[in-house]
Amino acid sequence: MKPLLQVERLSIQFGGLKAVDNVSFEIWPNEVFSLIGPNGAGKTTIFNMISGLYSPTSGFVTFEGEKISHLAPYEIARLGIARTFQNIELFEHATVMQNLLVGRHCHRHTNWLQDLFFTPATRRGELQFRRTVEEVIEFLDLQHYRDQMVAGLPYGVRKVVELGRALAMRPKLLLLDEPSSGLNVEETEEMGFWIEDIKHDLGITVLMVEHDMGLVSRVSDRVLALNQGEMLALGTSEEVQSHPDVVEAYLGGADEDLPPTPPPAEGGDGSSPPAGSSMSHAAPGLGRPGAGGES
Ligand SMILES: Nc1ncnc2c1ncn2[C@@H]1O[C@H](COP(=O)(O)OP(=O)(O)OP(=O)(O)O)[C@@H](O)[C@H]1O
Ligand SMILES: [Mg+2]
Repeated sequence: MKPLLQVERLSIQFGGLKAVDNVSFEIWPNEVFSLIGPNGAGKTTIFNMISGLYSPTSGFVTFEGEKISHLAPYEIARLGIARTFQNIELFEHATVMQNLLVGRHCHRHTNWLQDLFFTPATRRGELQFRRTVEEVIEFLDLQHYRDQMVAGLPYGVRKVVELGRALAMRPKLLLLDEPSSGLNVEETEEMGFWIEDIKHDLGITVLMVEHDMGLVSRVSDRVLALNQGEMLALGTSEEVQSHPDVVEAYLGGADEDLPPTPPPAEGGDGSSPPAGSSMSHAAPGLGRPGAGGES
């Protein structure tokens, strides 16, 4: 078996800051692989390099054996890598259905002339998009919201819609940047079910960034811990959580002057994004040491 994704000595520097420093790992087909680490560890930056938003300073990424580091984001999406964002990125003034249809556009094979005259190829493509989107709506239980504007939806539902937008691209690899952030206990548990179903029922490989160690332990096959751009430990969730360097990185980041972390939102009907990630399920010493650092 060959790895689906390979990250090879990946580094990126912003001015004098080494945001990601010589990071290597591979992801096997149908694996759930998680990146953990304190704020500013470089997790989202790795996602941005895999999905083509940032070009690495050195090192490279291969997907199904082909180097992808030089490709544009839309080309990488077309190869089968879809993502969600740390801060939800949706068209707020469009319906759930319209947002999900956008996700399929990277797989269009018709040109603008065919689209203009709505040729049979365009019609076939459009029907196929809609079938896929209907499947995703059913899979994620979004029927009730399909014609509603995203802007009016509870935060927890918007998170699921964003997951749906990524799934509508029928990816081989799904990148989830903090899927549980801002969700309450029940919503986080539900997110865990979706991730398990995505792996088992859809056969999609998942790379996840997550601060909630309960969720990480539950769904991950392997975990990589990072700190200040460097690799700390790679292994099972248990191995990584008990690794002395990982414990030290989290405890070292703790600051007694920081304000106490607010309790997780109740009821899941808040419509505004959260200030930070939930710490409610964090293992002792492995919670999110501070707010901020969103990118
Ligand atoms: N475009 C950029 N320009 C300059 N610095 C950047 C840029 N993107 C990220 N950084 C810096 O790189 C470091 C890693 O940031 P990154 O967003 O990857 O952290 P993270 O692990 O995702 O943290 P968090 O858990 O807070 O989301 C931070 O110091 C951040 O300020
Ligand atoms: Mg991040």
